[in-house]
Amino acid sequence: MRKLILAAASIAVLALVGPATAQSPIVIKFSHVVATNTPKGLAAEKFKELAEKYTAGKVKVEVYPNSQLYKDKEELEALQLGAVQMLAPSNAKFGPIGVKEFEVFDLPYLLPDLNTLRKVTEGPLGTKLLKLLDAKGMTGLAYWDNGFKMMSANKKLVAPADYKGLKFRIQSSKVLEAQFRTLGAIPQVMAFSEVYQALQTGVVDGQENTWSNIYTQKMHEVQKYITVTNHGYIGYIVVVNKKFWDGIPADIRTELDKAMKEATAYGNGQSAKENDDALAEIKKTGKSEIVSLTPEQDSAMRKALEPVYQDVAKRVGQPLIDEFLKETRGATN
Ligand code: LMR
Repeated sequence: MRKLILAAASIAVLALVGPATAQSPIVIKFSHVVATNTPKGLAAEKFKELAEKYTAGKVKVEVYPNSQLYKDKEELEALQLGAVQMLAPSNAKFGPIGVKEFEVFDLPYLLPDLNTLRKVTEGPLGTKLLKLLDAKGMTGLAYWDNGFKMMSANKKLVAPADYKGLKFRIQSSKVLEAQFRTLGAIPQVMAFSEVYQALQTGVVDGQENTWSNIYTQKMHEVQKYITVTNHGYIGYIVVVNKKFWDGIPADIRTELDKAMKEATAYGNGQSAKENDDALAEIKKTGKSEIVSLTPEQDSAMRKALEPVYQDVAKRVGQPLIDEFLKETRGATN
């Protein structure tokens, strides 16, 4: 795969050199791992539509959904090498390229709702985090929502003890690893495109994800129970290859910035509804039992996961966690 990425990268670098002419638009390859009918998939399509409209065809955006081009780990490497120009990986996926700060978004029960999330992403902390990407050869353009995660397994998960000994697929985040270890479960990093099969064949027992991801990957067909935990958040950082982005003529880049701003507002404006719709569809299939927690069970989960914060502080530093908590929990914390 590395060879493929390198071959594609050299072609992309050649393409970088020549400015756009009437015959050759600037091509932005936008790769992602989810289905088109998800919050990220739809926001990517909206960006394509607006970018091509505002630049009057001087820019062509090619969206490649469903890990068609690259799986999780390869995506960011491909972007750094210039084989693709734009991605929107989840916050959890930046640790392996050395930007572990985004993993703080994975902390259990950090974000009570989307409005609180916006306080972080649209405030100085959000801007500061995006700046960390410059050193990795990429520019962070926006924060896109997916939504809150649920837990699923073939066993009914209501109490922390129910997780003990079960294998859970996780994204490549040390926070998520700590989360499942704290519950006595066995986390296993796996690419998103491989989750369905791993659940079906029993390579893992369970997983955590948003309703839209569960539904579009058909995970509900191979999981007997999905517990409404809302214990964590999945969101995306829209990133571009920095050299490519800086090389785009300023007037065109202004139009692309405008397209990104509008696509972000559009996507974030309807992410919650897309997840609600996916939940309704899952319910209709009757294939998975949707399990609600009582307030006591919810409190027990929150309490069980508290030690994850100390664990993560060792990795990213307490000051960063405190900065988050100041935004998310305000003065009461
Ligand atoms: C996952 O790997 O579970 C998610 O990050 C996939 C995605 O991009 O929403």
